[in-house]
Amino acid sequence: MKLGVIYFSGTGNTAWVIQRLAEQLQGLGDTVTAVSCEENAAEQIDPEAWDAFGIAFPVHSSFAATVFRDYLTRLPAADVPLFAITTAAYWAGDTAWYAAQLLERRGYGLFLCANVLMPNNFFIPKLDILPVTPPERVPRILTRARSRIKTVAGRLHQLEQRIEGAGIVGRLGGVLQRWGYTRFESKLLARFHADEHCIGCGWCVRHCPTQSWSLRDGQASFVDRCIYCMRCYSFCPVQAIQATEKTQNTSKYRRYRGPEGRRYPT
Ligand SMILES: Cc1cc2nc3c(=O)[nH]c(=O)nc-3n(C[C@H](O)[C@H](O)[C@H](O)COP(=O)(O)O)c2cc1C
Ligand code: SF4
Ligand code: SF4
Repeated sequence: MKLGVIYFSGTGNTAWVIQRLAEQLQGLGDTVTAVSCEENAAEQIDPEAWDAFGIAFPVHSSFAATVFRDYLTRLPAADVPLFAITTAAYWAGDTAWYAAQLLERRGYGLFLCANVLMPNNFFIPKLDILPVTPPERVPRILTRARSRIKTVAGRLHQLEQRIEGAGIVGRLGGVLQRWGYTRFESKLLARFHADEHCIGCGWCVRHCPTQSWSLRDGQASFVDRCIYCMRCYSFCPVQAIQATEKTQNTSKYRRYRGPEGRRYPT
């Protein structure tokens, strides 16, 4: 079977999951083409070129990030079996199902939704109780994730009908989270800024998926189109990107360094 997957990954978790999933499926005799939405225009994707087509992305408060939602709306209509994979740190609810609706309305036949739990890349300045996952906890989470990915690969290989997260609890949780996020996003999330440690390397400029950074006089300058993918904050080489003044304390407010301690994209 030939499978195609389009993914978005802010800090590498979803890319890692999709790479492992592809390895598992290839071990079962399938061919997998996995491409980042940042490298391939939606209009040029032909989902019907594959026997099954997948989307994969991180859970952002029961949403897909706007950059990926917009991408889904630009994909061509297609009559093809669809699967949706999310990665989340705690709970995904109906996120995969909810995003897949954008494609189901245009002919795609949803057969599988699944979430893989991964380390947390997210930090809300006003919610210190949920820090990014410390590096020592990452290997254990990845071990569990590998086992989960193996299960999901087996189901995909069989084209098994299994839509997880879209029961009453998942749907209700999803509705509440989406409502809360839309209503309180601007209050909860701080605008990023680069502090005086910025060395003007331009990494944030090159890798922000929403072109929210530019270089002015050798210093990174932020324009707010941010979708909080956490990429720049996590991978700035000198940790000069701050959410608030207190995140300058980088030993307390640690950055998530990706599933294998490397920068995205790897
Ligand atoms: C803005 C934002 C919102 C998030 N919301 C949730 C959430 O509602 N539930 C959850 O379990 N994880 C949540 N997370 C954690 C990410 O979904 C998780 O770490 C994911 O694997 C990151 O994937 P990536 O590295 O591919 O971007 C959130 C992360 C961000 C950046
Ligand atoms: S990645 Fe960091 S050091 Fe490099 S330009 Fe951006 S803020 Fe400055
Ligand atoms: S500014 Fe940073 S967190 Fe926001 S979208 Fe760009 S890379 Fe992601």
